[in-house]
Amino acid sequence: MKRIAVIGTGYVGLVSGTCFAEVGHSVVCCDIDIEKISSLKAGIIPIYESGLKELVDKNTKENRLFFSTDIPEAIRKADIIYIAVGTPMSENGEADLRHVKAVANIIGANLNGYKIIVNKSTVPVGTGKLVQSVIQQVSKGRHPFDVVSNPEFLREGTAIADTMNMERAVIGATSEKAATIIEELHKPFETTIVKTNLESAEMIKYAANAFLATKISFINDIANICERVGADVEQVAEGVGLDSRIGKKFLQAGIGFGGSCFPKDTMALLQIAKSVGYPFKMIEAVIETNQKQRAHIVQKLLHVFGDLQGKTISVLGLAFKPNTNDMRSSPALDVIPMLRNLGAQVKAYDPIAIPEAKRLLGDQVVYSEDLFETAKETDACLILTEWPQVQHMNIRKLKTCLNQPILVDGRNLFRLEDMKREGFIYHSIGRPEIQGEKILTKV
Ligand code: UDX
Repeated sequence: MKRIAVIGTGYVGLVSGTCFAEVGHSVVCCDIDIEKISSLKAGIIPIYESGLKELVDKNTKENRLFFSTDIPEAIRKADIIYIAVGTPMSENGEADLRHVKAVANIIGANLNGYKIIVNKSTVPVGTGKLVQSVIQQVSKGRHPFDVVSNPEFLREGTAIADTMNMERAVIGATSEKAATIIEELHKPFETTIVKTNLESAEMIKYAANAFLATKISFINDIANICERVGADVEQVAEGVGLDSRIGKKFLQAGIGFGGSCFPKDTMALLQIAKSVGYPFKMIEAVIETNQKQRAHIVQKLLHVFGDLQGKTISVLGLAFKPNTNDMRSSPALDVIPMLRNLGAQVKAYDPIAIPEAKRLLGDQVVYSEDLFETAKETDACLILTEWPQVQHMNIRKLKTCLNQPILVDGRNLFRLEDMKREGFIYHSIGRPEIQGEKILTKV
């Protein structure tokens, strides 16, 4: 059993800390946010993540998981300190390391014996070394320590399962001793361990996210070409993905990637490349394609109506993906203002992200947690998130709610044949259009 302090109780910190407690370690999750820590102590989880509350409750009750705002004390008592603070995107696209540096300072000031400092936050290559030098300077070399980069690969919505059954743990360390201790820590997860130096571990995180983002932009570009040549991107993705060298995953065409990682990490990697004088053209194109994809769905509505002045559009889905209330870089944040600028009224449905959406989009939208109420008397319906509630909705009922049976589907949730049979005017991504009874193949 190790004593672990996790500094930063956001998504990554809270999930990782809870999972380390679940496999038997004593974990204190710390944050400077007093309100967040008091809520957690009272059993209130600040984020929506399936299964997290149960696991937090269980481990708190069994005295393995604690919450605290006293970061210095947590550091002094810990064998291993995880840094899991946010690294938001600064104005020039670089990762903002303010919080990481602040934590390194506090660790340096409170070092009272050998400790391993592990970075979980996604940080530019070289940050591990920076953390090492800050701690060295502040602690004046009084105690030995090691720095490890152990990037996080969890996805929102499946974060617990992704952690408990992690596909690999990347451990980039400044010493073999530290690497072995962190490897031991991961034993209960029965995972593949990849041991590297600090820089490679930091690079693995960016390369993994950038590669996945590239797959998405690639299939979206292919989808846009499919629309012009009469091909169906779903069939193309299936045919391509069956080649095991390519793989089926992350070939779902749609309205582009969002969330807290891909948009931020692709921009940060571009900046990392720039900072070493390397023009990374491919990642520039990935980012550009992703931005264009948001406008592409709005173009489809314009294609149907000519202009959106005075039209009312119902939007199904505000969160960047299902099973989360996270709206960071959500397509809705780009698409809804575009619709409003074109003169449309917007009604929006989401089962859980409405409070978050209200904070970010304010009153430019009429919100409802009732899908059919949202669609009622609107001129067209636009799908932005593949919520199961949307995927399995009664499309006949939807048709009766709409002024006209126009459905623009940014997530390709329905079969063309079904939409044709039900008499919808149905536009999706990279697939032929349905015009009521007809299936058209033009743009
Ligand atoms: C991602 C990575 O998967 C995870 O390993 C990393 O730690 C954090 O970033 P997350 O942002 O939670 O996780 O969501 P993910 O399920 O990967 O989806 C990211 C975005 O890509 C979403 O906007 C999703 O809609 C989009 N996406 C995903 C597609 O458009 N098509 C796909 O085929 C897959």
